[in-house]
Amino acid sequence: MEGVSTSVRTLAERVVGLLADPPDDPDLSAGYVNLLGPATEPPPSLAQSAMRSAFLPQIYEKVWRPAGFNLMKGWPIGPDTAAEHAMARDWLGLGQPGETERPALNVLDVACGPGNVTRALAAGVGADGLVVGLDASATMLGRAVSDTPAAGSGEAPVCYVRGNAVDLPFRDAAFDAVCCFGALYLFDDPWRAVDGMTRVLRPGGRLIILTSRRPFTVPAGPLGREVRRRAGDLTGITVFGDSQVTGALTERGFTGVRRRRYPLMQLVAGQRS
Ligand SMILES: C[S@@+](CC[C@H](N)C(=O)[O-])C[C@H]1O[C@@H](n2cnc3c(N)ncnc32)[C@H](O)[C@@H]1O
Repeated sequence: MEGVSTSVRTLAERVVGLLADPPDDPDLSAGYVNLLGPATEPPPSLAQSAMRSAFLPQIYEKVWRPAGFNLMKGWPIGPDTAAEHAMARDWLGLGQPGETERPALNVLDVACGPGNVTRALAAGVGADGLVVGLDASATMLGRAVSDTPAAGSGEAPVCYVRGNAVDLPFRDAAFDAVCCFGALYLFDDPWRAVDGMTRVLRPGGRLIILTSRRPFTVPAGPLGREVRRRAGDLTGITVFGDSQVTGALTERGFTGVRRRRYPLMQLVAGQRS
């Protein structure tokens, strides 16, 4: 841990305490807890390669995310980024920025990219809480670390972990709330990722997912399935049907499952029983 600032080390110690199999001497050299060596990275698809490039993290939060996601959410009818963040905090049972009493919860942001949603979650969590952003991309995390200031007054600190979202490294029931925005469709095994998010959530904890949605214009049946399979193989992107994600939460015992449908995206949430 030499050469690492005291604040990073102190926060990292809290995060290491949440790991199922904590390393003796965690690698914090890049400003985050690095649990992935080059040999253990998940295999890259076309979409994954873009996420690991040096370029995309530079334009992601200000250009790529608002342009692409707001369009897929049907902006201006659908929510813009600020409204999306407010809904995430609300559906997860967090507070809102500026409120004097914000709950001190442990929150996990799965596939956090450059930390854009992670920071929005931290703005709804009290100073005694902790927000952990996990991603596999070193370039995304590099940007996340440089864009995340030390916690403001009354706001939760943020710490980042380089790890695999499909095989979450945390112990059971480590978190009060889990968020996974803009990433489930990139995972090679999204349902295993949902199993992991359920596992790391304490009973009564809340999960929220923003992911792709298949519009009715894409044909159903064998031809539609084959087109989707080939498109998925080529791009590494899964487009989910309307009830697939809500069904996955219900099957895993979530209660109060709710959803907002947008033209090409869906926001799904529930509470772990
Ligand atoms: C489109 S970004 C989403 C960033 C942010 N959550 C948001 O909503 O804007 C998708 C992120 O998923 C990450 N990712 C994809 N597969 C992953 C995996 N198996 N484990 C961890 N991160 C993964 C990518 O590195 C990328 O940073």
